[in-house]
Amino acid sequence: MRRGGIIAGLDVGTTKICAFIAEVVDNKINILGMGSAPSTGLRKGVVINIESTVDSIKKATAMAETAAGVEIRSVYVGIAGGHIKGFESYGAVGIRGKEVRPQDVERAIDSASVVYVPLDREVLHVIPTGFMLDGQDGIKDPVGMSGVRLEVKVHIVTGAVSSVQNLLKCCERAGLEVIDIVLEPLASAEAVLTEDEKDLGVALIDIGGGTTDIAIYRDGTLRHTAVLALGGNHFTSDIGIGLRIPVLEAERVKKKYGCAVTSMVDGTEEMDVAGADKQTRKIPRKYIAEIIQPRCEELAELIKREIESVSTKELGLSGAVLTGGASLLEGLDRLVEANLGLSVRIGMPEGIRMSRSSPVSGGQSSLSNPMYSTGIGLILHGSMNGGERVFYGDMFDGIFDRMKEWVKNLFGVNGHDLRGKTVTMKQRV
Ligand SMILES: Nc1ncnc2c1ncn2[C@@H]1O[C@H](COP(=O)(O)OP(=O)(O)OP(=O)(O)O)[C@@H](O)[C@H]1O
Ligand SMILES: [Mg+2]
Repeated sequence: MRRGGIIAGLDVGTTKICAFIAEVVDNKINILGMGSAPSTGLRKGVVINIESTVDSIKKATAMAETAAGVEIRSVYVGIAGGHIKGFESYGAVGIRGKEVRPQDVERAIDSASVVYVPLDREVLHVIPTGFMLDGQDGIKDPVGMSGVRLEVKVHIVTGAVSSVQNLLKCCERAGLEVIDIVLEPLASAEAVLTEDEKDLGVALIDIGGGTTDIAIYRDGTLRHTAVLALGGNHFTSDIGIGLRIPVLEAERVKKKYGCAVTSMVDGTEEMDVAGADKQTRKIPRKYIAEIIQPRCEELAELIKREIESVSTKELGLSGAVLTGGASLLEGLDRLVEANLGLSVRIGMPEGIRMSRSSPVSGGQSSLSNPMYSTGIGLILHGSMNGGERVFYGDMFDGIFDRMKEWVKNLFGVNGHDLRGKTVTMKQRV
């Protein structure tokens, strides 16, 4: 058995902060532990309170460390928020030898990365989306091919320096070194999309608490990314305002009775709702759908506009995959499907399970939940962009045998290619 390293992913979300610890064994990923803590220091995906974010990160990582039995010092961390922007760039180089070498590919990507980036923005990812060799396009991996001129198209993702630095600061203050900052929809896409979907054309739509993150794939490569500042928390606050109930009750009501489409709700159904004075009253369930349907339609419309802004004949999509906690809202997938005119499914991180009971979910943890897509995706991203490994804690030697026992109960994530796919260039301003 070939052992790899321990990889840790940290999803700093608007509603929860989630830490995952995994081990790569024989190119398979075993989730060893996870921890989650409510997040109160973020707004629309961006850190607005360092102290409370640090506190939640510490809680989530401590929980994951206890479950995994290893200590972590460095993590792959996710980033989102309205400040994220993606754009295309292009580069070309001459080939010096007879055939394309990895260094030529690197030079081509470097030349595509030489773009003007304002001082207040930081490049997070430079992702090659297609190569052309002597005018021949559609090449995914030019290494080893003969030619004299290599061209590359890249997708460059940038974020506001201040938001990136605040996220880094939170991790640092929580005692964690950041190996890489990963755009959240890219991480989620790794966890829920199939290679076939990426080939045929798919929009990954991660509807979280504060943001809706979009990543569009076609011909196996990323074509477009976007972050919309609208998410499940808006449904909750609409319900709170509409029914004049506290946010916590609105959140409960949304999860239990919420529906995105009024016509899907039985008109005779009633539900109990508690007001600020703790008095409960019965109201028709249809009210909830009537309150949130316009907001769901607004979200579906924004998603449609974003997809249409890049969707051309050659970038026709065959479907969309919804993930993120808010994708669990009843009827939202049907509403988005009708709006986009594409088939829609809900994407969960498939086939991944914890070895033993997690303190978070009361002992029967199943990670097949769309709200864990980003966290699991960060682990997959970490394994693919391998090289740097998260350190094995001091406790590791002592617990190695115990871990072997747990690992027996785990099963790996099959079929994930562990070769590097994205080129990440942090700190390039
Ligand atoms: N069963 C459910 N029905 C409806 N909404 C749900 C359900 N479960 C969770 N949600 C909503 O999902 C949202 C949280 O999703 P998620 O955990 O993916 O967000 P996040 O990662 O914390 O936020 P973000 O990605 O926006 O920063 C909340 O608004 C929550 O109310
Ligand atoms: Mg999220």
